[in-house]
Amino acid sequence: MNAVTFPELKSVAALPGPKSWPLVGGLLGNFPQINFAEFHRQLERWADAYGPTYRFSLGPRSLVVIADAEAIGVVLRERPHLFGRRAELERVFDELGFNGVFSSDGEDWKRQRKIVAMALNSAHLHKFHDGLLATTERLRQRWLEVAKADRPTDLCADLMRYTVDVTTQLAFGIDFNTLETDGPIIQQHLDKVFPMLSKRLGAPFPYWRHLKFRADRELDRAVDAIHQQIKVIINECRQRMAANPGLHQEPTNFLEAMIAAKETEGLAFSDDDIIANSFTLLLAGEDTTANTLAWAIKFFIDYPELFRQVRTEVDSVLGAELIPAHFTDIARLPAVEAFANETMRLKPVAPILVFDAKETVTLAGVEIPPGVAIVLLTRRIANRPENFSAPAQFQLSRWLEKAPAPDRVHNTKAFLPFGTGPRFCPGRNLALVEIKMVLAMLARNFEVALADPSVPVEELFAFTMSPTNLNVKFKSRAHF
Ligand code: HEM
Repeated sequence: MNAVTFPELKSVAALPGPKSWPLVGGLLGNFPQINFAEFHRQLERWADAYGPTYRFSLGPRSLVVIADAEAIGVVLRERPHLFGRRAELERVFDELGFNGVFSSDGEDWKRQRKIVAMALNSAHLHKFHDGLLATTERLRQRWLEVAKADRPTDLCADLMRYTVDVTTQLAFGIDFNTLETDGPIIQQHLDKVFPMLSKRLGAPFPYWRHLKFRADRELDRAVDAIHQQIKVIINECRQRMAANPGLHQEPTNFLEAMIAAKETEGLAFSDDDIIANSFTLLLAGEDTTANTLAWAIKFFIDYPELFRQVRTEVDSVLGAELIPAHFTDIARLPAVEAFANETMRLKPVAPILVFDAKETVTLAGVEIPPGVAIVLLTRRIANRPENFSAPAQFQLSRWLEKAPAPDRVHNTKAFLPFGTGPRFCPGRNLALVEIKMVLAMLARNFEVALADPSVPVEELFAFTMSPTNLNVKFKSRAHF
């Protein structure tokens, strides 16, 4: 009789990984080897060298990195009971006054999640289509102006104006209209937040609790300015609700729903909760969608034949319209959707996700105690030949085939730009609608090119991954 053998569990210490530098007796771990502006790429390069499961350290903290689709799926699904966002993340968000649905855990997270998910569901998006249409028209007008003036424009900045205008209308019922504003805008403050979050979460020690540098003081000022602005929005919303008491029974947006819930038994949200979640939605809704759009437009420039394929589809669906005029048009743009998916496969704005285990867990054959952070390389698994054929190629066809040909691999479980499981991104539908609206509007109305093709466009990691140097020129389409 053959004895059944089980593979031995490995300890974290037994995993391969980069050697710590001997600096300060090894106290900093691998910190000195990392350039945080390209943290995700460093982790992907280490996966090339050490395999899909390895370890490294940042100061006293150990981290296990996982680049295996199945193990990643387990971490994302087994929440909130086994895995949660890092305790340190909650602390850092809390210090800045935006510990809301993204950073909280347990029962606190559950009640916040319910209300955020409701505010972003399809029914609300359907009703919001006119607002989206008007904002997309403003973006079109902005690009018509720069086209007419033959002036380059900072693509990411334009798109962030768009996403902030959309999020504030949908979530708060307020039109910031930053697309048509020349003076100071909230994005100037929001811009400071993600890079500093990234810096603080990667720091080997929480230095800012003892000593604040200029960047830390700038962050404090930016956060303070955003808080003030949110408080004004909340006060205005309270006044609207006082004038129209029906809104307490039937709130029309996220902010009204949070304020109304305060009065409903068992669902009390404090003022701090309301401010924190308003801040969270602003942050979560701005960079992510704007940067995804920016990457997609960069791919429009890189692949002119695929841009033409998208344009042919958009022309035929839109008829005489210049922007998808009806909510239902958006569902009739499969090539545009394929373009968005392929963009997010190659350039997901969240290329890594980091979690804590709440008890000792076994993952990918490794015994991981609580306190060891678990880093999931979600971009890497979507770029591996075992999950997607010809992974480095930008192909629309892989998303348009009804079923993959027998010799093609198309593992959608390895495509996780919005995460998965109970904490997957509740803004996914909104983001996809925005992305399709803007890509369709652009293809219908404009030609786009890099303002200076000799300047390389690079990936910059600062909590999300954005393109650098994306200055572009627009030209109005010839026959308009
Ligand atoms: C292309 C655009 C976007 C991408 C790629 C994206 C990606 C993500 C990812 C990867 C997560 C973590 C998911 C997980 O832990 O499983 C997340 C969470 C979240 N996203 Fe998004 N997101 C986008 C747009 C938005 C928008 C437009 C909003 C709202 C206005 C939003 C709100 C949130 C919130 C509130 C969470 C936290 C959910 C929770 O912890 O329960 N996101 N997003």
